[in-house]
Amino acid sequence: MSATPVKILGLSGSYGLTSKNGLLLSVALDECKALGAEVHVWDLVEKPLPLVGAEGSWDDSNVKEFQALAIECDGYILTSPEYHGTMSGVMKNTLDWVYKDHVGGKAFGLMSTLGGITNSNTLNHMRIAIRWIHGWCVPEQVAVGKVKEAFDDDNNLIDADVAQRVAELAQSVVKASIMLRDNKE
Ligand SMILES: Cc1cc2nc3c(=O)[nH]c(=O)nc-3n(C[C@H](O)[C@H](O)[C@H](O)COP(=O)(O)O)c2cc1C
Repeated sequence: MSATPVKILGLSGSYGLTSKNGLLLSVALDECKALGAEVHVWDLVEKPLPLVGAEGSWDDSNVKEFQALAIECDGYILTSPEYHGTMSGVMKNTLDWVYKDHVGGKAFGLMSTLGGITNSNTLNHMRIAIRWIHGWCVPEQVAVGKVKEAFDDDNNLIDADVAQRVAELAQSVVKASIMLRDNKE
């Protein structure tokens, strides 16, 4: 870890930090913290982001705060439920509030959850959106299928292989965030 901790922002495409995506995000962010990163989570229950373009949305104080935090952070971990074969509208709207000026040239890690069997659609669609805002996605990614069965009563991931993949994703995001931050022109 470099002398100044990197700041990692966690974003969930579900409302609530106890949703499956909220839980998955906290597993990843705990790993980032263990690696010495400073972690932040944007909680949409506490601070909702309006739909892009809704009346008053361009001047919304939560949006301004969210964009300022995005600028301050060096890397991002995203997790979205799969809805109708793609990321949730909540995740897409969250991403629509940040541009190259906020997140360009910084590292992203992607995760998704599914009620059904595992596939990579949501991950691939998020990867395309991140390309549009000039983010750098790490190659590691995690999709958790049959997510209702993925956590035990204490909110621990049951499958050790999934937990290992989440840890590797977090490690990669922290490493890439340091490299990109410390090698800016
Ligand atoms: C509108 C809607 C669409 C959904 N579409 C899919 C889908 O296409 N594939 C799938 O496997 N699960 C689908 N699901 C199940 C969600 O992916 C699942 O409930 C979610 O990953 C759970 O995470 P959460 O607790 O963070 O909401 C859908 C759920 C909703 C509400």
